[in-house]
Amino acid sequence: MPAQIGIDIAIASALLRQGKLVAIPTETVYGLAANGLDSKSVLGIFEAKNRPTFDPLILHVRDIPMAKTLVNEWNDTAQTLAEAFWPGPLTLILPKSDIVPDLVTAGNTTVAIRIPSHPLTLALLHLIEFPLAAPSANPFSYVSPTTAKHVADQLIDRVDYILDGGECTIGIESTILAIEGKTAKVLRLGGLSIEAIETVLGQPLLETLQQNSNPQSPGQLDHHYAPRCKLIPLYNKDEPQLYWAELLKKPLFTSGFGLLLFSKQGMGAEEEFYLTKLQEAGKTKVYILDELGDMAKAGAKLFSILRLLDSDGCKEVYFSWAPEIGLGRAINDRLMRASS
Ligand code: TXA
Ligand code: MG
Repeated sequence: MPAQIGIDIAIASALLRQGKLVAIPTETVYGLAANGLDSKSVLGIFEAKNRPTFDPLILHVRDIPMAKTLVNEWNDTAQTLAEAFWPGPLTLILPKSDIVPDLVTAGNTTVAIRIPSHPLTLALLHLIEFPLAAPSANPFSYVSPTTAKHVADQLIDRVDYILDGGECTIGIESTILAIEGKTAKVLRLGGLSIEAIETVLGQPLLETLQQNSNPQSPGQLDHHYAPRCKLIPLYNKDEPQLYWAELLKKPLFTSGFGLLLFSKQGMGAEEEFYLTKLQEAGKTKVYILDELGDMAKAGAKLFSILRLLDSDGCKEVYFSWAPEIGLGRAINDRLMRASS
C-alpha cells in the first residue's frame, strides 16, 4: 500500500518505534528517517534509497544533551557552534560513542549530528527517545527533495509515512564540519555560509573540499544531486565577463534546450531584449532562480527548478553561476555537481 502523507506526528512516532521509515521535513531538504540506534531500521533506509552502505548517515537529535550521548568528545568548539547555529543547517562530525551502530557511520569512528530547524520534526523528535538517522529522501544520486510531493514522486512505495511540512525554507543540504580541536574543517558547503561560521569561531575554517569520492565525506561524489537532463555551464566560473558573449553563441531558440539563470542582475537593455525574444519564441525554456539575485531565495528554489528541468522535458540546459560568496558558494557547488 502506498504511504500516507500527513501531519500526524503520533502516527509518525509510532511507525518509527516499530522500525519503519518516515520521510521528515527539515529546513534544508526532506530526510528519509528511521530509528538511528537500531541497525535493522537503518538498513531499511539504505535499501529504500539504493544507497551504498559505505556512505554514512546524519543523526538528527532534539537537543544538545541528546547529541552528547552519541559522541565520545564534546569540546568548546562543538559547544560554541551548536549554541550559535542549532537548530539549523549545520552538521557536526565528532568521534562517535559506542551506542551508535557502525552501519550509521559506515564503519567510521566519527558520527554526523545535527538539530534540524523545522517545527513538525522537532515536535516529532520530542515524542521519541532515539535520534533519527536520515539522509536526503531521494533515490541515490538524484536531486534532494524540498517538498513532500518530491518525496512521494519517487519514494511513495518505499516509505511508510510522509510527514508534510511544506516547502523547505533553505532548500540546500546542511553545511558539514568536522570538528578538529579549536577549529573545524569544511566537508560540504551547504545552507549555512562559511562566513557566518567563521564570524562565530573568530578564525578561518580549513577547507578540504574535494570533488571526487572524498574519503573524508564519502557521499560527496562528483556526480551527485543531478537531474537527468544535461547541465552545461555558460562560462567558466572565474570568467563571468564571458557570460553574454557565450550565451549568444549557444544553439538556443530550439526545442529541448533550457536556460537557467541565477538572476537578472547586471543585465543591460540588449540582454533583456534577447531574453524576451527567447521567451516569446517559446522553444527554449527560461528559468530564473531569483530576478534580483537574493541568495536565500535562489537557494530555496534551486532543487525544485532542477526537478522542473526534467519534468519540462529539457534535454540540455545552459546555466549561469551564482556570485561565489556566502550561500552562492553552496549553490555553485550543487550546480557543479549537477553538471559533472
Ligand atoms: O541537510 C541535510 O544534511 C539533509 C537533511 C535531511 O538533514 N541530510 C543529508 O543527508 O543531506 P545525506 O545523507 O544526503 O548527506 C550526508 C552527508 C553524506 O555526504 C555523508 O557522506 C556525510 O554526510 N557524512 C555522514 N557521516 C559522516 C562522517 N562520519 N564523516 C564524514 N562524512 C559523513
Ligand atoms: Mg543526499
